[in-house]
Amino acid sequence: MSAAIEATRVCKLYGHGPTRVEAVRALDLVVRARELTVLVGPSGSGKTTLLSILGCMLTPTSGTVRVCGVPTGDARPEALAAIRRQHIGFVFQSYHLFSTLTAAENVQLALDIRGERGAGAIAKSAAVLADVGLSAKLKSFPRELSGGEQQRVAIARALVADPSVILADEPTAALDSENGRAIMAILSSATKQRGRAVLVVTHDARLFRFADRIVHIEDGAITHEERPPPPERVTNAQGAGPQTATNP
Ligand SMILES: Nc1ncnc2c1ncn2[C@@H]1O[C@H](COP(=O)(O)OP(=O)(O)O)[C@@H](O)[C@H]1O
Ligand SMILES: [Mg+2]
Repeated sequence: MSAAIEATRVCKLYGHGPTRVEAVRALDLVVRARELTVLVGPSGSGKTTLLSILGCMLTPTSGTVRVCGVPTGDARPEALAAIRRQHIGFVFQSYHLFSTLTAAENVQLALDIRGERGAGAIAKSAAVLADVGLSAKLKSFPRELSGGEQQRVAIARALVADPSVILADEPTAALDSENGRAIMAILSSATKQRGRAVLVVTHDARLFRFADRIVHIEDGAITHEERPPPPERVTNAQGAGPQTATNP
């Protein structure tokens, strides 16, 4: 599988002297195309710091990050912004939608900053909102949408510019388990459709079954990696024996 993001010996130090924190320690990670990687670890273990470094929002203290083969080490801020715009979509726990814009306008904004406007941008935004099941909500404002719907708008916004990589920081943490599963199913299908790489931070072990790999982080270092659990076995009411549960 090809590397979408390759982090090598990445370290991140915050602060100086007695307040110094080593948030990420000589960490190696390859985020691969066509895979949903789940990153799991305790609070303060460096997950958000690592995601920010992989997404070129934060510069590592040392080590290298390559995004779609492009080394980012010597890139100036404008060049890093261009790499982000071209290759990376972000999804956050708290959605980060503009409250004064409709669902469709929130998604169109992601195209607007890339110079795409007009009928083409409107059609593209409507199509990606339909993909996440929101074709009936194009004109709704965030306050008129449930949390799960708002997160689907945020995912549509991340997907609309067709990035190679989606980085999602605890995208289901504010949602109930049913909406959490729906969000993970959408993120999982994003890896299958366009060969995208998706990295999701989550604490919820019930969502691990959507992953292709699960990477554990502690104290800024990767401790181990595992494969997802097999599909849940459920017994049907007629007593005909176990059968495999289907994804939502
Ligand atoms: N901007 C910052 N300045 C100083 N310390 C920070 C900053 N951001 C995070 N930290 C520290 O770095 C460590 C890792 O934080 P973070 O990456 O947010 O972990 P997680 O997302 O796993 O909870 C923590 O000890 C946190 O307090
Ligand atoms: Mg965090």
